[in-house]
Amino acid sequence: MAIGYRLLGKLFPSTQSPTPITPNPQRENPEFPIPQLLIRIRSQYTHKLLMLCRLFTRLLILVVVFVVYYSSSLPAQAANKIDSYIARYLHVTEPIALEMDEQGNMRLFSPQELSVGKQLFENNCINCHVGGATLPDPQVSLSLLKLQEANPPRDRINALVTFMRQPMTYDGSQETYWCRQLPPSLLSQQEIESLAAFVLTAAQKSPGWGTESF
Ligand code: HEC
Repeated sequence: MAIGYRLLGKLFPSTQSPTPITPNPQRENPEFPIPQLLIRIRSQYTHKLLMLCRLFTRLLILVVVFVVYYSSSLPAQAANKIDSYIARYLHVTEPIALEMDEQGNMRLFSPQELSVGKQLFENNCINCHVGGATLPDPQVSLSLLKLQEANPPRDRINALVTFMRQPMTYDGSQETYWCRQLPPSLLSQQEIESLAAFVLTAAQKSPGWGTESF
């Protein structure tokens, strides 16, 4: 304790106590005589400690404000950002229409949504599906041809979403535990559709996507 006080005194040598030091009547009780000097020193250090506390609180408030500001603005920035891969290799710079189902229903996907999809792919799939290949099972790549020939075909958004919610073997006969399952608790409908849109667009447009040249 005493060392701490001494240290504080060295840190803030010029700080003056703003509060006048009034003798504490209790302390002056003749039953407990405490020298005035001790009381003085004590209240000076309490004051310095208080100042430190205030400084710390201000710092803490600053940090909290900073964190809140960034955590709220980062997703917004990410949502507006168009990944350079999307523009350069998939040639998507404005919304594109993708087939949702075999009935020919279409939905527009913005380049921002495809960028979100690419990010999700990088976070969840790339370990096994780098460049659209399937490392654990190269026969079942994510190339457009492979997606079309699967049973049922997986070359439309809804079919891809159904597959990702519950991955099945290539012939559709049973569940597969090789691929990553994405329950709604992990990815929302909108997110999983963005991911499907990225996979489908990459399969349609990206040169070398899913080829077995690895
Ligand atoms: C641990 C490795 C692994 C991860 C991670 C993984 N997959 Fe797979 N994926 C596989 C394997 C293996 C298969 C082939 C499964 C089979 O046929 O039994 C497959 C199959 C697929 C297919 C079907 C391909 C076709 O031609 O029919 C799609 C689509 C697919 N994965 C998408 C994804 C997506 C999207 C993600 C990320 C959310 C992902 N996978 C994560 C291993 C993985």
